[in-house]
Amino acid sequence: MPLYVGLMSGTSLDGVDAVLVEFGSAAGSPFRVHSHVHAPFAPDLRSELLALNTPGDDELHRAALSANALARAYAAVVTELLFGASTSSREVRAIGAHGQTVRHQPGVADGTGYTIQLLNGALLAEFTRIDVVCDLRSRDVAAGGQGAPLAPGFHAAVFAQPGHARAVLNLGGIANLTLLPAVGDVTGFDCGPANALLDAWCQRHLGRPYDEDGRWAASGHVIEPLLDALLAEPYFGLAPPKSTGRDVFHLGWLDNILTARAPDAAAADVQATLAALTVKGAARDLRRHGNDYRALFVCGGGARNVHLMRSLRAELPDVAVEATDALGLPVDQVEATAFAWLAHRFIEGKPGNLASVTGAHGPRRLGALYPAA
Ligand SMILES: Nc1ncnc2c1ncn2[C@@H]1O[C@H](COP(=O)(O)OP(=O)(O)OP(=O)(O)O)[C@@H](O)[C@H]1O
Ligand SMILES: [Mg+2]
Repeated sequence: MPLYVGLMSGTSLDGVDAVLVEFGSAAGSPFRVHSHVHAPFAPDLRSELLALNTPGDDELHRAALSANALARAYAAVVTELLFGASTSSREVRAIGAHGQTVRHQPGVADGTGYTIQLLNGALLAEFTRIDVVCDLRSRDVAAGGQGAPLAPGFHAAVFAQPGHARAVLNLGGIANLTLLPAVGDVTGFDCGPANALLDAWCQRHLGRPYDEDGRWAASGHVIEPLLDALLAEPYFGLAPPKSTGRDVFHLGWLDNILTARAPDAAAADVQATLAALTVKGAARDLRRHGNDYRALFVCGGGARNVHLMRSLRAELPDVAVEATDALGLPVDQVEATAFAWLAHRFIEGKPGNLASVTGAHGPRRLGALYPAA
């Protein structure tokens, strides 16, 4: 059975998750993850990628060099992944590589807009000698879609249970929700900010990259008027299809609202409020889709945040909230496995998007191929 590598580095900018996956194994299960590696970004690369999220000097040159640096970082992770799994590159059919989103502007300006995931796919193919499928979002945007979220197709393929409504919530830099109804079309969209803002606020005030287990947030009190002001951001009221990123939800956005509404707020209380924003935003989005969803499976690094999980359970008392580990896929492997799946779909000549999710004109084969040789 063919093996695929999935490489994901999301908006949290914490680093790269890599998985080695087999699809359609003889045992009948739709997939099996053979191994997983997480590699944090080198601090210089991380800060440059973060800087490239906002307009700046000489950014074409800097973006191109960062795309090269990402290819090197991805290649190193692939080497580690394959070595650890005693697998040779010849056994891998393709790599599905996300790249690093630095702008996400579907539909803007000229009506088509764009989404940019930095990565030099040619260089990654050169280093790994494996077929690389990357730039997985642009075709959906070209077809009038949001280009995001793309994980719902994978969630539908592996997590759906016919006759039972299930929801999947990914808490990455941004939170995204997938709704797998008992019958009918799958839907999904980005809810709003998750770790991107929690991490940034924590870094600014504690000098730490993230709020471990949400302990700092748990030590604070939610400032209700601030929470209301944050939830008044128009994005939360938009009907799907919709997607977002650091373009909207960055520290400047928070600072503006803080200055206007809570200039003297204690930092821990702001962290508590940001956690509540993630939880309330997602819970509200789930409830808007009716009462069918009694099972919510959470993935992404935010599922390791004890405070976020506890708050989600409190906010949704009639919903069973569990990590995706309960479905056989650990929380930090879901997104990377989704990108391996997307590469698998590309190679098989199948569409990767769900038009019901992204709003594209129809199903499309997603990605650009850089052949191994
Ligand atoms: N023990 C923990 N406690 C609190 N937060 C955690 C913990 N472990 C991980 N995280 C959070 O998870 C983040 C990483 O999550 P993840 O890799 O899913 O995000 P991402 O890279 O933005 O992914 P994507 O965009 O694919 O959803 C970290 O930046 C951190 O905020
Ligand atoms: Mg990550």
